[in-house]
Amino acid sequence: MPSDRFARRRALITGGGHGIGRACAHRLADEGARVVLADVDLEAAEKVVAELVEKDVEATAVGCDVTDTASVDAAVAQAVERLGGLDVLVHTVGGGLGHPDFLRTSDDDWHQQLELNLMGVVRSLRAALPHLVQTRGNAVMIGSVNGMVSVGSEPYSAAKAGLQNMTHNLAAEYGPHGVRINLVAPGTIRTRVWDHQPDRMERLAQSYPLGRIGEPEDIAAAVAYLASDDASWVTGISLPVEGGALAAGPYAWRG
Ligand SMILES: NC(=O)c1ccc[n+]([C@@H]2O[C@H](COP(=O)([O-])OP(=O)(O)OC[C@H]3O[C@@H](n4cnc5c(N)ncnc54)[C@H](O)[C@@H]3O)[C@@H](O)[C@H]2O)c1
Repeated sequence: MPSDRFARRRALITGGGHGIGRACAHRLADEGARVVLADVDLEAAEKVVAELVEKDVEATAVGCDVTDTASVDAAVAQAVERLGGLDVLVHTVGGGLGHPDFLRTSDDDWHQQLELNLMGVVRSLRAALPHLVQTRGNAVMIGSVNGMVSVGSEPYSAAKAGLQNMTHNLAAEYGPHGVRINLVAPGTIRTRVWDHQPDRMERLAQSYPLGRIGEPEDIAAAVAYLASDDASWVTGISLPVEGGALAAGPYAWRG
C-alpha cells in the first residue's frame, strides 16, 4: 500500500523521460505528488506523463535542455506556474562518456561533461531555490559513486564529485531558510545507458556484494526518502545506494 508522503506536494523532476528520472516520477506520484517532468526528450517525457495520467496522477511535461540557462529558467518557471509553487526538485539529468583514456580526453570532452553533469545542476538549482525558499522545500540531486572513489572516467567523476561539494555548501547556506539539499550516489543501475553492454552488466552484477546491479526503483526509493518529511533533519548528505560496493572497496569492482 503506497504511503501519501507527498500528498499536496509539487515536484519538478529533470530527466523524467527515462531511467532513474522516470522511476522517481512514478515513486513520488505513487505517494501523492503532482509532478512536472522536464526533459530534452520531450516525447519520452510525454510518454511517462501518459503512464502517470493513466494512474490518475496530475502530471505534465516540459521541454528543457539543462545545458542552456534560458531553457532551464523557462522550464522551472513553467513548472511553478502549472503547479502553483514548488516543494521538491529532483535533478536526475546526467551521463558519462564511457571510460576514455585520461590522456586522450579533449577539452571538449571536459566541457561537455562539466556542462551536462555539474552546470546543469547549477542551472536548475539557481532557478528553483528561490521557489523552494518560499515553500521551505528541498532538492535531491543524482550524483554517482564515481564522485566518491576512483573508478576512472575522470571528466564524469570530477563533475559528480563537484556536485557533492555543492550539496554540502548549499545545505549549509540554505538550511537557515528551511531548505534541505541532498544527493543520492548510485552504483551501477539498469537503465538504457548499459543497453549496449549486457555482458559487462552481468560481470558487474557478480562483483556487487548484494549480487545484483541496481534497478531505477532502488534509487527512486532513496530519493523519495530524502525528499520526504521522513528526512526532515537530514541535509547536505551524499547517500550511496550501491549494493555494498563501497563497503567492499576495490574488490567490488574486480568484475
Ligand atoms: N545508470 C547508471 O548506472 C548510473 C549510475 C550512477 C549514476 N547515474 C546517474 O543517474 C542519472 C540518470 O541516469 P540514467 O541512467 O537514468 O540515464 P538515462 O539516459 O536513462 O536518463 C537520463 C535522462 O536525462 C535526459 N537528458 C539527457 N540530456 C539532457 C539535457 N541536456 N537536458 C535535459 N534532459 C536531458 C534524457 O533524455 C533522459 O530522460 C544521471 O545523472 C547519471 O549520471 C546513473
